[in-house]
Amino acid sequence: MRSLLFVPADSDKKLAKGLTSGADALIVDLEDSVAPEGKAAARVNAAEFLKVYIKAPDRPRLFVRINAFATGLSDEDLDAVMASRPDGIVLPKAEGEATVTRLDKRLMANEKKLGIAQGHTKIVAIATETAAALFRAGTYKGSSERLAGLTWGAEDLSADLGAEANRDADGNFLDPYRFARVLCLAGATAAQVRPIDTVYVDFKNDKGLRREAEEARRDGFTGKLAIHPAQVAIINEVFTPSSEQIAKAQAIVDAFAASPGAGVVGIGGVMYDRPHLARAEKLLARVKKP
Ligand code: COA
Ligand code: MG
Repeated sequence: MRSLLFVPADSDKKLAKGLTSGADALIVDLEDSVAPEGKAAARVNAAEFLKVYIKAPDRPRLFVRINAFATGLSDEDLDAVMASRPDGIVLPKAEGEATVTRLDKRLMANEKKLGIAQGHTKIVAIATETAAALFRAGTYKGSSERLAGLTWGAEDLSADLGAEANRDADGNFLDPYRFARVLCLAGATAAQVRPIDTVYVDFKNDKGLRREAEEARRDGFTGKLAIHPAQVAIINEVFTPSSEQIAKAQAIVDAFAASPGAGVVGIGGVMYDRPHLARAEKLLARVKKP
């Protein structure tokens, strides 16, 4: 999942456009982009959309962002969409292991009731939207087999912190958000799930988006959230591994395969150990299924 495009669940036009955007995943949004009085209709719309397109060939992965547990809306969200068998749920305002475990239980119950294979529905958690969440970013490891990725958010966090801004005049994230970004990256890596960079809201600024995406890739993120179809091609390009990276990863995998049981190998005068192998395997898996 290089690009994950948010699409408001109450917009048929955007849902249709999302399908042909080239995004690796759509996040059908029931949360922040839908007004409170529109939630009920948006749920119905999301369920109808998913029911049809989940069966389409060559479709992007289809996720649904539900409302946070604290709103009291999340159970109704799940009840509305689960019968349409989404690939996964995006959980906003996650606060570590306990929140993921809570969602895992709800998904398990829904899957059982609906005859869906246990574990079918994956989870991507937004791990930095509250101050409390920052202290729990390191607790996701082992929380649920469903957990596929962690991402982070600066908008809700700045509201929780009572901050005046989250970026400086040049568009760079200020300290609290740079810290949240690192916690997401480290938390996801520790939990062995994908670290996914946050949205770039200035959607007409291609240059700024590219720079932020390249910085994210440099630091270890494997994908980025999008809010507009025009952002998808740039994000996909930045997060597609280069032919050199693929060749290097393949060489590491081949070297370990040629020395079964080895903990360490040398290629071209450089040492590679097991963590390098794990990293190489992950990269090759991402190439096969972005
Ligand atoms: N998904 C799918 N299609 C989208 C889209 C999205 N996220 N954002 C825009 N589009 C479509 C528009 O409907 C429009 O379609 P058209 O050419 O058929 O008229 C086209 O892309 C161009 O859109 P544009 O006019 O540039 O933007 P806009 O003013 O219509 O929309 C936003 C701007 C920000 C409202 C819109 O991009 C959006 O809704 N983004 C998602 C917001 C969201 O989900 N936020 C929650 C997560 S932070
Ligand atoms: Mg939000």
